[in-house]
Amino acid sequence: TKRWNMDGDAAGDPPALLEAAAVLQAGGLVAFPTETVYGLGADATSPEAVASIFRAKGRPADNPLIVHVADEAPLQKWVGDLPEKGKCLARRFWPGPLTLILPHRGNLAPQVTAGLPTVGIRIPSHPVALALLQACRIPIAAPSANRSGKPSPTRADHVWHDLQGRIDGLVDGGATGVGVESTVVDVTQDPPVLLRPGGITADMLREIVGEIQIDPGLERDVEAPLSPGMKYRHYAPQGKMWVIVGSGDELVFHVQSWADRGAQEGKRVGILTTEEHADRYQAGRVEVCGRRSEPETVARGLYHALRTFDDWGAEWIVAEGFPPEGMYFSVMNRMRKAAEGRVLNIGE
Ligand code: TXA
Ligand code: MG
Repeated sequence: TKRWNMDGDAAGDPPALLEAAAVLQAGGLVAFPTETVYGLGADATSPEAVASIFRAKGRPADNPLIVHVADEAPLQKWVGDLPEKGKCLARRFWPGPLTLILPHRGNLAPQVTAGLPTVGIRIPSHPVALALLQACRIPIAAPSANRSGKPSPTRADHVWHDLQGRIDGLVDGGATGVGVESTVVDVTQDPPVLLRPGGITADMLREIVGEIQIDPGLERDVEAPLSPGMKYRHYAPQGKMWVIVGSGDELVFHVQSWADRGAQEGKRVGILTTEEHADRYQAGRVEVCGRRSEPETVARGLYHALRTFDDWGAEWIVAEGFPPEGMYFSVMNRMRKAAEGRVLNIGE
C-alpha cells in the first residue's frame, strides 16, 4: 500500500494526486480523506474494481455504496434528473456532507447499488477529495475506509491500521473535520426521507425543503438495555458498550456507578466522557471525545475514542450520552449502534 502525505496541504500535492488518480483509473483501490470520514474509492463503472472494495473491507454484498463526483455536470450520465427538492438540497449543501438517493440509469457497476433502482450520490467538500475526483474524471464509489465492523476512519492511521496491505494506496490528508458520515436523504420520495443523520442536521434540511420524513428506525430512543440488536453489528467496538443519557452531576454519578459495576465483574473498563466532566471519573481508561457544549467537537472525536478503547482492549465501555437534538441526533445514532441498543435514559 502506497501512502501519499498531504496532511496540512490545502491544495493537495498535484503530482501525488495525479498518481493516486491514475491508480483509480486503472481499477485500483485508493483511500482518501473527505470532510466526514475517509472513503475507500474505486471506479464506480467497473464491476471488478467495485468488487475489490467489498473484498478489502469484508463488507456484505447487499450494502450499497455512495458514488462521489466533483461536480453535478457529468451526473446525468448515470442518474435521472434531480427531483425539485433534491435540486434545492444540492444547491445548498453540495459540496458537503450530504448524500442524495436518486434513481439511476443502470450503467454503474451493479454491486454499487446492490440491485436497488436508486444510488447514493455525494459531492464532498474536502479539498483533497475534490482535487482527486477532478483529476480522475470518473465517478468514484466509496464506502467508509474501515474494515467491516470497525468505526469509520477519521484519521489516515485508522485506515492504515485496518487496510494496510489490502488496498493500493492511501492519501493522507490528516484528521477529517465532521467526524461522522454524511447525511443520507432519499429525494425520490416527497417529503424527502432522512435515512441516516450526519453532518447536515434535520433542521438544516427542513430549512431548505420544509417537511421531511424521518426513517422510523432512527427514532426509537430507548431500547431495552439487554436487547441483542443484531442489526447494529456494524459499528460496535469489541467491548460491551453502554450509553447513559442525562446531564450534570446525576449523569456523572450514573456513569461512574455503571463503570464500577463492570469493574466488579472483573472487566477492563473504559469511560467515554467530555472535557467538562473528564476529571470526575475513575476507571481503567477515561477518554474525552470533545466538549459537551460544542456538539461538533464530540462528532469529530467520537470514532477515534472508540478505536482507542479497542486498541487498549476495553471490555466494558460506559459513555456519556446526549439529548438527541441537532448534531447530537447524529452522534446518538452512532453511539446507539456502537452500544447495540444499550442506551439508558436517566432523569426523566
Ligand atoms: O460520509 C460518508 O458518507 C462516507 C464518505 C466516504 O463519503 N461514506 C460512507 O459510506 O459512509 P458507507 O458505505 O459507509 O455508507 C453508505 C450508506 C449506507 O448506510 C448505505 O446503506 C446507504 O448509504 N446507501 C447507499 N446507497 C443507498 C441507496 N440506494 N438507498 C438507500 N441507502 C443507500
Ligand atoms: Mg461505513
